[in-house]
Amino acid sequence: MTIRAVVRGVGHYLPERVVPNSEFEKTIETSDEWIRTRSGIERRHFAAEGENTSDLATRAAEAALADAGMTADDIDAIILATSTADLTFPSAATMVQARLGMTRGFAFDVQAVCAGFVFALANANALILSGQARRVMVIGAETFSRLMDWTDRGTCVLFGDGAGALVLEAQEGAGTTADRGILATDLHSDGRHRDILYVDGGTSTGTTGHLRMEGKEVFRHAIEKLAETAHSALDRAGLTGADVDWIVPHQANIRIIEGTAKRMQVPMDRVVVTVQDHGNTSAASIPLALSVGKARGQIKTGDLIVTEAIGGGLAWGAVVLRW
Ligand code: UT7
Repeated sequence: MTIRAVVRGVGHYLPERVVPNSEFEKTIETSDEWIRTRSGIERRHFAAEGENTSDLATRAAEAALADAGMTADDIDAIILATSTADLTFPSAATMVQARLGMTRGFAFDVQAVCAGFVFALANANALILSGQARRVMVIGAETFSRLMDWTDRGTCVLFGDGAGALVLEAQEGAGTTADRGILATDLHSDGRHRDILYVDGGTSTGTTGHLRMEGKEVFRHAIEKLAETAHSALDRAGLTGADVDWIVPHQANIRIIEGTAKRMQVPMDRVVVTVQDHGNTSAASIPLALSVGKARGQIKTGDLIVTEAIGGGLAWGAVVLRW
């Protein structure tokens, strides 16, 4: 008997305010054309004043619970991937736990920036396979608009706010690649690259700080590392690019998404793309894309999915799962 962490529900939440590229033309030297052609982004959502990461996460979690036909007390653990928790502590995950009315189990945040959801999924899988939890809510939620330097055109046009959530449940599988659930994970980090993507605030400065990025350098690492980690995860599962129904990548830049798909020899009509509507929502981008991909009718039960992401750290990784 093989235990698998199987997706039982999915949901997402996007703040009401939609900001088109043209809005930035009023305040900085940029153009809709530059943003579209260099990143693929057309619009993004920004959270309202007073609307925080735990609020977005709670709405996404409620949607995932409804999709799973479960209530909060059916869940044993919440793992929330975020780099923009409401407060330094307590974790945003415990705030979500309280807001959902969940009075049992445990909740904690995972911080691996844009790769956060992949790290959270791998941790949820480990909790389920080790028998520490049967049902885990895995959330990616961010308010990156709070980290922007609005005078830095190289970063402020790229990011957005949002949240997505999955409910995973322990189910028996046959131990083959035909099983539903998580089939393999592959995680990496290399702290030597901290200076190409970071936030210049925290306890060391007493400020929240602003996101700083050497975009070209991050781009170069992304193109190289994402296909590599996706291949490693597929390899571990005993599968190849030809078995993939959907790549559900981190949504940072359409050129990175296309470059990675090309290296994996997967055509773009098998890639879920949401970057045009959401921008880069960091740890929220993959669960948002999974939820939107299902709602669009792209992702169906039994489909083989590869998710991959890279972000500050650098931290990167991939998860192979059968929906
Ligand atoms: O999720 C975490 C991981 N993050 C990423 O994956 C982001 C990775 N990087 C990227 O997506 C791309 O590098 C960017 C979209 C950030 C930038 O694209 P690029 O093709 O690498 O452009 P660049 O940074 O080399 O900039 C090219 C030019 C520069 O002008 P000069 O020096 O050639 O005169 C920039 O100053 O474009 C200029 N530029 C802009 N122009 C208009 C930079 N930002 C803007 C802007 N509007 N918003």
